[in-house]
Amino acid sequence: MAEIKKWQTGEFINNRYEIISFLGKGGMGKTYLALDKETGKRVALKLLTFSDIDDWKVLELFEREIKTLAAIDHPLIPDYLDNFRIDDGNELYFVLVQEYIEGKTLLNLVKTGKRFTNSEVEEIFKSLLETVSYIHELHPPVIHRDINPKNIILADNGKVFLVDFGAVADPVKSNNASTIVGTIGYMPQEQLYGKIKPASDMYALAATMIFLLTGKEPSEFDLKNMRLDYHAEVDISGKIKTILDRMLDPDYKTRLSDAKKALDFLEGRENFQEAGSLQDSPDTEHVMINQTSEGYKEISFKKKKAIYFFLIFFAIAWNSILIGFITNFGEMEEIPVFIYLFMTPFFGAGIFMIGMILYGFFGNVTLLLTGDELRYKNTIFGFTFKSSSVSYHDIKGTKIIEERGSKGHVSYILKVFGSGQTIKIGQFQGLDRNDLDYLKDLIEKEVFC
Ligand SMILES: Nc1ncnc2c1ncn2[C@@H]1O[C@H](COP(=O)(O)OP(=O)(O)O)[C@@H](O)[C@H]1O
Ligand SMILES: [Mg+2]
Repeated sequence: MAEIKKWQTGEFINNRYEIISFLGKGGMGKTYLALDKETGKRVALKLLTFSDIDDWKVLELFEREIKTLAAIDHPLIPDYLDNFRIDDGNELYFVLVQEYIEGKTLLNLVKTGKRFTNSEVEEIFKSLLETVSYIHELHPPVIHRDINPKNIILADNGKVFLVDFGAVADPVKSNNASTIVGTIGYMPQEQLYGKIKPASDMYALAATMIFLLTGKEPSEFDLKNMRLDYHAEVDISGKIKTILDRMLDPDYKTRLSDAKKALDFLEGRENFQEAGSLQDSPDTEHVMINQTSEGYKEISFKKKKAIYFFLIFFAIAWNSILIGFITNFGEMEEIPVFIYLFMTPFFGAGIFMIGMILYGFFGNVTLLLTGDELRYKNTIFGFTFKSSSVSYHDIKGTKIIEERGSKGHVSYILKVFGSGQTIKIGQFQGLDRNDLDYLKDLIEKEVFC
């Protein structure tokens, strides 16, 4: 392959743009600072050299970048100005012209020794959350996919710009696993599996903030329970810590994925509890996930109470009949023993029903995923009457079992097979198939991934 030409200062592109300097090279093409002779303004030119393209995907991404930038209108995203192709006789170039942002990238600033204070980081963070929320709320949403310190410019006027829309996903062809783009360390796990989620941008943004706070690349940190173990190196607390932790959740399903919510929380417009509840609710109605202060996932269930109301009527009727029966016998001089024996199972059933009702209203099942152990707990009035735990190593698999009642009524339970025991989840919780599918998926991801 011929050596790719590097444009020199003073050269003209399209008889209009005079090259001033080379700005940078990333995954695609080269970016130059140039002077637009027609407007007298400085512009950023991104050039893709035809012979440099080894995969048609690159051209597709470049065209998407042009389309996206042209469609976006935001004060903190460079304006799209023009695009064209040129042929200088032996080479074909694709060119994108955009507003030039006078400033330095966050990477450049940190590498040249700049350290940001917590409140500076918070300002940058808020500004970017606003921009990210803007792109995510477009129809269809724009997912940047490559937020990192190299693609953020701190302008000389103090404003924070998001650049490089060269990795945006095609919203129509969602989940096109064939093009993996992104930057190691800033890219969350699901992105490697080709999933295209707004939550991935949130992870990348949080990782970028950690870079600003510590001056260390995410890849330099250890992982603890699959999470970036950064706490020892920063001195942050309160809301910003809560938000960063929620955005760095390795599981995109529980990660805080709503930029607007995060911003509202940071600015005090939204009041979430410090830990937990600050996440997208799962797609199911009855399963709730919270984050405990230790960073564990705590799953609880919202029971269907209706069946218990029915049970109350039934129990009242049942027990009244029994009591009526006994009081009638009471008028006899002596009650034969066999009557007691005969009645025992009926009393048993009556008591069981009362127990079920109490459990229905006051009992709780919680599942705790600690990172190496699954704990299951059944409590009533805060008192644990049944609990078990199984370590992730011992979990062989999970399975949803369908149970058919005598009247053809179907209920489901989820079984988690440990080496010596099986944990049954969902019994008497009124969970439907959808809830259990979600739970199964969640547990498997946590345990096997
Ligand atoms: N509009 C712009 N204004 C100023 N500098 C820019 C602009 N766009 C890009 N740059 C600089 O050029 C570099 C490469 O551009 P980028 O769009 O990120 O291309 P790549 O896809 O090759 O990473 C960026 O890291 C940034 O330093
Ligand atoms: Mg870039």
